[in-house]
Amino acid sequence: MRTGVIKGLGSALPDQILTNHDLEAMTDTNDAWIVDRTGIRERRVGGMTSELAVRAGRQAIERSGLDPASIELVVLATTTPDQTVPATASTVQAQLGLRSGAFDVNAACSGFIYGLVAAQAMISMGMGNILVIGCDSLSRITDYHDRGTAILFADGAGAVVLEAREQPEASLLSWNLGSDGTAAGILYADIGGVLVMEGREVFRRAVRVMVDSARAALDAAGIDIADVALVVPHQANLRIIESAASKLGVDMQRVAVNIERVGNTSSGSIPMALTDAVGKGQLSPGDLVLLVGFGAGMSWASALLRWDGA
Ligand code: ACO
Repeated sequence: MRTGVIKGLGSALPDQILTNHDLEAMTDTNDAWIVDRTGIRERRVGGMTSELAVRAGRQAIERSGLDPASIELVVLATTTPDQTVPATASTVQAQLGLRSGAFDVNAACSGFIYGLVAAQAMISMGMGNILVIGCDSLSRITDYHDRGTAILFADGAGAVVLEAREQPEASLLSWNLGSDGTAAGILYADIGGVLVMEGREVFRRAVRVMVDSARAALDAAGIDIADVALVVPHQANLRIIESAASKLGVDMQRVAVNIERVGNTSSGSIPMALTDAVGKGQLSPGDLVLLVGFGAGMSWASALLRWDGA
């Protein structure tokens, strides 16, 4: 079977730290409320999407040990491209010195999983190694006078290199991708505008779609949640993560969480949390790992992977 195995992971954050106390000076909020309602203590801002994506992508390629010349495609999930045209993936490909195809994916916070599943499909059709990056610089489209969004959104990037291999079992065991465009109005940013969100409604739907999507992916592979070593959810709000984990019947020891210091970085969130979890030794070869995301659209996505020990 031809499949893409995660060989290297990388991440990147801008240098500027924005703490909850910094936000107290910008809008009517306070550290205790933010920590209690979101689990976030600080986030990074001031990034440019191509710059963060290049840093994360370079680290993932270096750690993979693969020849950069073997990378045939760059898939960049982002909702905050550098420009409307061209795709930021092309800028990233050029700055990494790759001779490959390149395209952007916009599925909001689910974008990295959409990109990963698309990349796996292309590998199964015969393509070689692929770099998949999730990156957003949400600080560029956040209104820091709006306490409903300013406390959550941030900048960051995560990346993986998929090595194309022939092996008995696929690395991607199952997936679930979905969208409900009738709910687009609860979280959006117009071109040139800032993020507008009905927080309570997003929260309510988020828990439901994460649980449903995760279950659909598990059912498709015939796997019980008890056999999953690690769930890597979109880092939107710690309370959403805890509520979804509880409904799925997975204890928080088996859930990757790094939202406390990075906030909600949309497309960057899941690959960054995965990179951090691997760095902390939370995955061993042969483990099952379940990625689960939801976001504007509304979109949702899950992917169940057999870990290969990157
Ligand atoms: N600081 C202090 N008080 C606040 C703040 C704040 N930043 N925001 C709201 N409050 C107050 C409200 O005015 C309200 O006061 P009241 O009871 O006197 O009226 C009270 O706190 C509760 O307000 P809620 O809006 O009900 O607060 P909630 O617990 O829902 O938390 C939050 C708000 C954090 C935005 C939450 O709804 C949330 O996380 N929603 C999901 C957001 C999300 O995940 N978005 C990302 C989607 S992914 C993507 O595509 C980018």
